[in-house]
Amino acid sequence: MDRSKPAAASAAAFYRRLTSTRSSLRLAAMLSAAFLLAAAPFGPAAGSPEGEGPGDGEGKRSLGARTIAPPAPVWIIAAYDTAGKPNMMTASWVGIACSRPPSVAVSLREATYTFGCITAGGAFTVNIPSTALAAVAAYAGSVSGRDEDKFSATSTTPVASELVNAPYVKECPLVLECRVSHTFELGLHTMFIGEIVDVKADAAVLGENGLPDPETLAPFVYWVGEGGFYGLGDRLGSVRELARQFMP
Ligand SMILES: Cc1cc2nc3c(=O)[nH]c(=O)nc-3n(C[C@H](O)[C@H](O)[C@H](O)COP(=O)(O)O)c2cc1C
Repeated sequence: MDRSKPAAASAAAFYRRLTSTRSSLRLAAMLSAAFLLAAAPFGPAAGSPEGEGPGDGEGKRSLGARTIAPPAPVWIIAAYDTAGKPNMMTASWVGIACSRPPSVAVSLREATYTFGCITAGGAFTVNIPSTALAAVAAYAGSVSGRDEDKFSATSTTPVASELVNAPYVKECPLVLECRVSHTFELGLHTMFIGEIVDVKADAAVLGENGLPDPETLAPFVYWVGEGGFYGLGDRLGSVRELARQFMP
């Protein structure tokens, strides 16, 4: 594919923009936005703002090799430090890892205080916050337990798990108690696989089937890049109903 023409056209467009004062302001805003995106912790901006980039094709714009796979869960990971002080941090690089044995995966940077807590204690809890706890999750993901007691700062309550060597967050309606079964150093993040020893739920969030109800549990997700929390949207239908459209 000949990329020289789009590049020349882009250069001319760039020059025309520079020569117009009003457009220069708009361009400055665009460049600041590009800078902010490039400085984001989720990786540098990729793909050209105009025309095709190297990975473009079939009407899609390449965004580069980045961790963009929305939506990302919002979990609060809790563990004890070596002095036995409970700490919590928010994590979104997380998910279910295995059905049997029931396991989760959480990927933490070694620089986090929680990393050292989990490494030392061999256990953690996953605490699923409801939307009422969005500010707690934001705070737990913004300051370190090295410097602050995040439980007392947020008036939340650490409760000692009787099954694993970790505290859980009483105010979170759903809690998974996990024992570390595997650790994988991946690069910037280290993935802890936690075998789920028990799941505890507030009775108030359980539906008629005895399992968490999406509306009362009210979990929320993180939108990578934009940096916002979002609640769940509408129910689209059951998998069985939806799949039936394509079945004879
Ligand atoms: C929504 C959100 C998601 C986050 N996800 C992760 C993650 O998956 N892994 C990670 O290492 N840090 C993640 N962080 C950053 C940590 O929560 C943050 O560095 C925190 O201060 C670490 O706390 P600690 O030092 O007490 O362990 C996230 C932050 C936010 C706000």
